[in-house]
Amino acid sequence: MSDHSVSLSRWLIEQQRTHGHIPASLRLLIEQVARACKRISRAVDKGASSGVLGSLQSSNVQGEVQKQLDVIANDVLLEANEWGGHLAAIASEELETIHPIPHRFPRGEYLLLFDPLDGSSNIEVNVTIGTIFSVLHLDEGVAEVQGEHFLQPGHRQVAAGYCTYGPQTTLVLSLGHGVSSFALDPDQGSFVCTQQDLRIPETTSEFAINMSNMRHWAAPVRRYIDECLAGREGPRGKDFNMRWVGSMVADVHRILQRGGVFLYPWDRLYPNLACRLRLMYEANPMAMLVEQAGGMAVAGSQRILDIQPTGLHQRAAVMLGSRDEVERLRQYHLEAEEGSRPPPMR
Ligand code: AHG
Ligand code: MN
Ligand code: MN
Repeated sequence: MSDHSVSLSRWLIEQQRTHGHIPASLRLLIEQVARACKRISRAVDKGASSGVLGSLQSSNVQGEVQKQLDVIANDVLLEANEWGGHLAAIASEELETIHPIPHRFPRGEYLLLFDPLDGSSNIEVNVTIGTIFSVLHLDEGVAEVQGEHFLQPGHRQVAAGYCTYGPQTTLVLSLGHGVSSFALDPDQGSFVCTQQDLRIPETTSEFAINMSNMRHWAAPVRRYIDECLAGREGPRGKDFNMRWVGSMVADVHRILQRGGVFLYPWDRLYPNLACRLRLMYEANPMAMLVEQAGGMAVAGSQRILDIQPTGLHQRAAVMLGSRDEVERLRQYHLEAEEGSRPPPMR
């Protein structure tokens, strides 16, 4: 590692002092989140050797069986973030209701939301998993924080990011001024900046979707994937490639690096759940990162970041990535809503 590498701490200080992008309290909050991610990374690294793999008897609010690492990651994030004085409350995929900061600690002005461990089904098979987080600002004048104070549309996020635990531990972050990536240097135990101003290529020939749900998709998604699958002989006139890790963090990370489109659409398989992914701590932070990297993120015809949330754990359709492909998907949804279907775009 070069002596000139910029640590996350230094990078954050520069965002505060030099660029005026963030106040000190947000800088310190991000430092705390990153510290928690390092601890989760260590727990993931140790894996079976320290007995942290496997499922528990418990379920979370979504009715999903919790893995040991889901709970460990949740506890690490809670413990690391509740005493710093920068937060008013925390919300997590693993907690039914919000976690207000205990009165013994000072209360700050931010709200933190996270999916402590994304891609839980990949834990035992040693495939990349991660943590996703979102930071909101608490409205002025709130005496007692309630769940409703979290229900802000995603465009009000002041920061969003994720950390992948894979061959490398990588933190990807946006403070609303582009996207930067930081690699964990295991020798130093610190994150160093490896990429500034990440940009998603506008065009792509790669898509990511769970194809086993095909028969349950709505018509615009079927149309889009059918046209991709038709390849060079089809209306798109080119061949497409498919990648699907099954951990949103890993799929989105690939798209930020080399382009592509990720879809977890509404499907008839879970009609009562109205989609698989959660808006507040999965779709919104990823949508902010993708937009900040020049891409697009929609839930059909609507921009994800404009959805007005009505519940902490509500779900949303997710289609994000390279701008041209996501715009095409958005058009297909609009056309379906208007009931017309002109010839496919080329
Ligand atoms: P989580 O592990 O936090 O519940 O999220 C898993 C999500 C997401 O990472 C992934 O894209 C999707 O679930 C995969 O789900 P299926 O395997 O059911 O398609
Ligand atoms: Mn998840
Ligand atoms: Mn999770």
